[in-house]
Amino acid sequence: MCGIVGFTGPVGGVDALDVVMEGLRRMEYRGYDSAGIVVQADGALHTRKKAGKLANLDEALSLDPLPLGVTGVGHTRWATHGGPTDANAHPHCSADGRLAVVHNGIIENYASLRAQLTDQGVVFLSETDTEVAAHLIGRAYDELGDLTEAMRVVCHQLQGAFTLLAVHADAPGTVVGARRNSPLVVGRGEGANYLGSDVAAFIEHTRDAIELGQDQVVTITAESIDVIDFAGAPAVTKEYHVDWDASAAEKGGYPTFMAKEIDEQPRAVADTLLGRTNAAGHLVLDELRIDESVLRAVDKIVVIACGTASYAGQVAKYAIEHWCRVPTEVELASEFRYRDPVVDEKTLVVAISQSGETMDTLMAVRHAREQGAKVIAICNTHGSTIPREADAVLYTHAGPEVAVASTKSFLTQITACYLLGLYLAQLRGNKYEDEVRDILAQLARIPAQIQRVLDSMGLVRALARQMADARVVLFLGRHVGFPVAMEGALKLKELAYIHAEGFAAGELKHGPIALIEQGLPVFVVVPSPRGRDSLHSKVVSNIQEIRARGARTIVIAEEGDDDVRPYADTLIQVPRTPTLLAPLVTTVPLQVFACELALAKGHDVDQPRNLAKSVTVE
Ligand code: G6P
Repeated sequence: MCGIVGFTGPVGGVDALDVVMEGLRRMEYRGYDSAGIVVQADGALHTRKKAGKLANLDEALSLDPLPLGVTGVGHTRWATHGGPTDANAHPHCSADGRLAVVHNGIIENYASLRAQLTDQGVVFLSETDTEVAAHLIGRAYDELGDLTEAMRVVCHQLQGAFTLLAVHADAPGTVVGARRNSPLVVGRGEGANYLGSDVAAFIEHTRDAIELGQDQVVTITAESIDVIDFAGAPAVTKEYHVDWDASAAEKGGYPTFMAKEIDEQPRAVADTLLGRTNAAGHLVLDELRIDESVLRAVDKIVVIACGTASYAGQVAKYAIEHWCRVPTEVELASEFRYRDPVVDEKTLVVAISQSGETMDTLMAVRHAREQGAKVIAICNTHGSTIPREADAVLYTHAGPEVAVASTKSFLTQITACYLLGLYLAQLRGNKYEDEVRDILAQLARIPAQIQRVLDSMGLVRALARQMADARVVLFLGRHVGFPVAMEGALKLKELAYIHAEGFAAGELKHGPIALIEQGLPVFVVVPSPRGRDSLHSKVVSNIQEIRARGARTIVIAEEGDDDVRPYADTLIQVPRTPTLLAPLVTTVPLQVFACELALAKGHDVDQPRNLAKSVTVE
């Protein structure tokens, strides 16, 4: 996700450019595709911004140096609204260029705000949601003459998740920040103060930090830090001392990127859901620029993907067929084009890829388009090849995933698939708008439920450490629990190098049951008894069958499911969710298990052996 740095020091002190650029370098690990900086000097603001890596910005700065200044703000951007171009890079300025803003997050209501501003004659120079905030804060400043107040007032107009930093040419030595659902920390220095998306931004200068609460505005000068809430009242903040080293700071204090990314899942799912409804609460997918008549005429959906993304596709199949009544196939991208698939103009192909660069998936996309199919990409990386070649794209907002094996991408891919399924169901008349709204409301509750799962993982971690010597682990699931079982097995293979298989629980009797022997660990993902009762009772029977043959059963079931209790050697309870949405919570214990077990074996979970994050060969 975007990285933000703000700095203000004493007159005649160090050059803000150096401090801000160094902070941006420290936050490179967050991933970005463009960068920019603004420095206050000589009663004006001076900005430079460039697509691509910081080296491009460095070059622009050496060709056209900035004047010396002691107050500055910088930004590394991970594109969400608008591609990674110079124009879309931050900072963005008000019309008169006197105010500059950088932003992390998504302003959900930006489209309507932009329309209002355009009606009032404002000319936009970028495709970003951020530029709306720049114009609004600039105008508010002109009216109020106070940057803190201008920020506070405008925050009330914004919906969604955002961290904003602003500087104004007429407020020298001052940087104002605000946050809602997006991170911002303050660094308290000696005669200089700092703002950052995380402490990595200023860890070279100070380890005294202040965590901002939700909906707070902070104003820093070289000598002062003032925090108020969005109502304008002085706010309570939490001061702390950072004792991580710089490399731990990059991981937000987590031992590994994977641990951090697993923990980021509530936010990642919430962000993926943001901005998908209009003022009336109806699901709108603005990004899907495929004619509605084409989507109505679709008679088959084919999901293509590789690895973890293909299991997200398997979940999509259950949801899309149930909600839309369109036959849906899921195919490994590497198999798709070599089996001469039946695809034509009425086929909708959904290509799921975190990186947007997986060669197998890209080749399958090209093949599908050659056959006349329309392709929608579900992707996490703006400007990558697969969305560029697809007819339309639905972005997940997981933020950069650094660990090679996917975790937060999986949950956000599933979330995006649900959104696509609901959109098609609404468009094609399979679901009424109120039905769609009900499911969206259920989805909106899921991030908090994922958080509850994460908060209760002590049992799973202890189990993983106990099982560090396991040589084989099986995973069983049924219905949407089947792809979850396969993903659980894949995570264990990838991270812990343990032979693991996921099976459909109903297939057990047709073969895999022969593998069961004394002490063999078997995870079972149990469907909700509130879904199809017969399915639940069949899985409970499966647990009994394997336990009778000596398996050690580790059962993932929803809270209140007492039927499984007698047959579970270990019972992992997850919050109740609607049947189709359950993978968003049942997957999490399996990720934590694989990660913890691999760590117990001393493996590098961020870079497992033989694996690559983007596989750009077929
Ligand atoms: C690689 C990674 C997997 C990932 C797969 C698909 O094999 O190791 O973790 O699931 O690629 O990646 P994509 O970027 O297309 O989602």
